[in-house]
Amino acid sequence: MPQQVRGVIARSKGAPVEIATITIPDPGPGEVVVDIAACGVCHTDLTYRDGGINDEFPFLLGHEASGVVESVGEGVTSVAVGDFVVLNWRAVCGQCRACKRGRPQYCFDTHNAEQKMTLEDGTELSPALGIGAFADKTLVHAGQCTKVDQSADPAVVGLLGCGVMAGLGAAVNTGNVGRGDTVAVIGCGGVGDAAIMGARLAGAVKIIAIDRDDKKLEWAKDLGATHTINGADVDAVEAVQELTGGFGADVVIDAVGRPETWKQAFYARDLAGTVVLVGVPTPDMKLEMPLIDFFSRGGSLKSSWYGDCLPERDFPMLVDLYQQGRLPLEKFVSERIKIDEVEEAFHKMHAGEVLRSVVVL
Ligand SMILES: NC(=O)c1ccc[n+]([C@@H]2O[C@H](COP(=O)([O-])OP(=O)(O)OC[C@H]3O[C@@H](n4cnc5c(N)ncnc54)[C@H](O)[C@@H]3O)[C@@H](O)[C@H]2O)c1
Ligand SMILES: [Zn+2]
Ligand SMILES: [Zn+2]
Repeated sequence: MPQQVRGVIARSKGAPVEIATITIPDPGPGEVVVDIAACGVCHTDLTYRDGGINDEFPFLLGHEASGVVESVGEGVTSVAVGDFVVLNWRAVCGQCRACKRGRPQYCFDTHNAEQKMTLEDGTELSPALGIGAFADKTLVHAGQCTKVDQSADPAVVGLLGCGVMAGLGAAVNTGNVGRGDTVAVIGCGGVGDAAIMGARLAGAVKIIAIDRDDKKLEWAKDLGATHTINGADVDAVEAVQELTGGFGADVVIDAVGRPETWKQAFYARDLAGTVVLVGVPTPDMKLEMPLIDFFSRGGSLKSSWYGDCLPERDFPMLVDLYQQGRLPLEKFVSERIKIDEVEEAFHKMHAGEVLRSVVVL
């Protein structure tokens, strides 16, 4: 029987979000209904609300979530009723040219549920990143569910579903940060701080945090930065060079995603080092630079989709490290809020007051 539950929707461009009654169909083949336990408020939810992703209103927002599998459709064997899962927005297909070449983290045809969740009048909802988890329950593809240790705090581990995984993976997977590396991270919001935490986990010896907000730099230190630079006060490239014997960092991560921050990342990098772009630029942004600099400085320039993660490989491992006290994931939860406080959380995020507000259901 289809069920009716509460969900946070964005009805039209820029309008405040609202709570609506939504209808969840029974899971079809390959689908799963998840009883949501917690869901973090991510910048991308706000971008959806503001029409920055596409025009497919109304959106069912929320995509950094954990919950318990309530029912499964035909053919689902990867998870079972009662499993505690973290949701992901890149369920790999196993069939496309990237998957077939053994690079599933680049999958070009990721899966979502085929059936639509709807409003009471039958209007189809577009779930944010194919998830839609500011809701009591949601419908996803089975591949979007990864079973993890059920004793973990749902509000904390749900954050692995987006920003924290993207940042940590940008350092560890895409940037391949290793023991003894020097790392610089530009932009210390949830994503940049997760990159800092990842760099520490991987054994980086010097971790330089760059932001324009001193409060953010304090949080970055708490998560593992060994040095901080306020980019509003000093030239960030020179400051990184000074801290690295005049050379630059082995890996520089741009967690802002603007032409000026990417250029800083490029020039704050040592010869043959790596730049990782994990912040998302807007389509109008352009870059003009001497081509010879790309050649003569060597190394590699990469972008990171979802931290090049593989949820089945990475989520259980990171939850275990967190449970053992070796990964301070709980520091990303700035506050726990109710489902009707998402709009307020957007304002706090905009004002830089929180790393993550998490809706607890
Ligand atoms: N690649 C992915 O798969 C992926 C996934 C999730 C989020 N993201 C992107 O990552 C980026 C960061 O997300 P977030 O949640 O951390 O955002 P956020 O707004 O919380 O953090 C951004 C930080 O950058 C700082 N900043 C802004 N301009 C700066 C500048 N010129 N120099 C130094 N610092 C500057 C801000 O003070 C802030 O602390 C966003 O673009 C987001 O869309 C990417
Ligand atoms: Zn694929
Ligand atoms: Zn997100």
